Amino acid sequence: MNANARELAASFDIEKLTPEFYADPYPTYRTLREHEPVKLLPNGSYFLTRYDDLVSAYKNTKLFSSDKRREFAPKYGDSLLYEHHTTSLVFNDPPAHTRVRRLIMGALSPRAIAEMEPDLIALVNRLLDDIAAKGSFELIGDFASAIPVQVIGNLLDVPMEEREPLRDWSLAILGALEPVIGPEVFAHGNKAVKDFLAYLEILVERRRAKPGNPERDVLTRLIEGEDNGERLTEKELLHNCIFLLNAGHETTTNLIGNGLVALSENPGEKKRLIENPDLIKTAVEEILRFESSNQLGNRMTTERVELGGVTISAGTPVTLCIGAANRDPQQFADPEKLDIGRTPNRHLAFATGAHQCAGMALARLEGAIAISRFLARFPNYALRGPPRRGGRVRFRGFLSVRCAIS
Ligand code: HEM
Repeated sequence: MNANARELAASFDIEKLTPEFYADPYPTYRTLREHEPVKLLPNGSYFLTRYDDLVSAYKNTKLFSSDKRREFAPKYGDSLLYEHHTTSLVFNDPPAHTRVRRLIMGALSPRAIAEMEPDLIALVNRLLDDIAAKGSFELIGDFASAIPVQVIGNLLDVPMEEREPLRDWSLAILGALEPVIGPEVFAHGNKAVKDFLAYLEILVERRRAKPGNPERDVLTRLIEGEDNGERLTEKELLHNCIFLLNAGHETTTNLIGNGLVALSENPGEKKRLIENPDLIKTAVEEILRFESSNQLGNRMTTERVELGGVTISAGTPVTLCIGAANRDPQQFADPEKLDIGRTPNRHLAFATGAHQCAGMALARLEGAIAISRFLARFPNYALRGPPRRGGRVRFRGFLSVRCAIS
């Protein structure tokens, strides 16, 4: 190990990240993976970077718990952010998790998703027409973020004119999940949960009075529950609707934004995709691997665990670094290279195991339609100046990317 690498691995602290790290975390991830793959951080938690270690942790829900009550109590106190994050299914263990997940998976059926395709294509075409009329545009605001907000809005049948605040609420609530947050982010996140709950209470009341088609409308489905009488409590219903709306927003925006930026920075791969549009499915998987929109997962050990020769005691928070695992050379040949035809590509962008992303089929569909149609329409798009990053370690993406179409 050279002195620089040793120093970089030894000094890594998730609570003290540098601007260089936010711009490009991969050299740090690589050093950690090679030299301290099970890294003890100054705050007593562990940071995992090897593919195999992440798979073991994701697959063992007994040893690696998703229940965040203990971890979030000091961070959020007795607040709405605490209530929200500890009620959503992603931060719960079986049996509470299993029950809510079954209901959500029932609502996100392959049929419900397939039925969304025509509206999705029409939406993307409309956005592309608007961009064509403008000439220069901002990729995130004018395109990438406009797609998931409408798709998720359709999924819960939120009236068109009421969708505007959804994105800001989502950014504020998810922003509060960053490893370190200041009082402003905390206050902003709490206000977003409060406003979101107030809005959903009205939406749910209206839907109870006038139910939609449970085959297509996820909210009606969640209100009505399963045929066997299984239902969500009122609190579970509201917080899991917030979670669904949030989970599908920033991540999918970043898939589309990261993809079009990565292709622009890899002109050979961009040309290859334009010339072989049928590669779009493997291209979306590769973008998910190469610039994973969700870079970190979190678990807590329930018992003493041995990992890579390190003993981790019970009750220790563990961060699973998806961004690092997805570039592990033990799993991926030439991992630092964007290869839009890569197969196999068993990336962990959607995690794996019991909590694997419930919306991955929808995210893949949105990514494929948005990226392929954008490329077909504007094959000569070019970035205007350096794109502006979101400045987050968990959700990797851009705030704004100025572009021109020729
Ligand atoms: C590119 C887009 C997306 C990415 C990268 C992504 C990533 C992830 C990841 C990594 C997890 C696991 C979290 C953990 O256990 O630590 C997850 C869970 C989840 N995602 Fe996604 N997601 C995306 C889009 C979506 C969409 C569009 C929806 C909904 C329509 C969605 C709904 C969910 C739900 C409900 C869970 C919780 C599953 C559970 O705990 O059982 N996601 N997602």
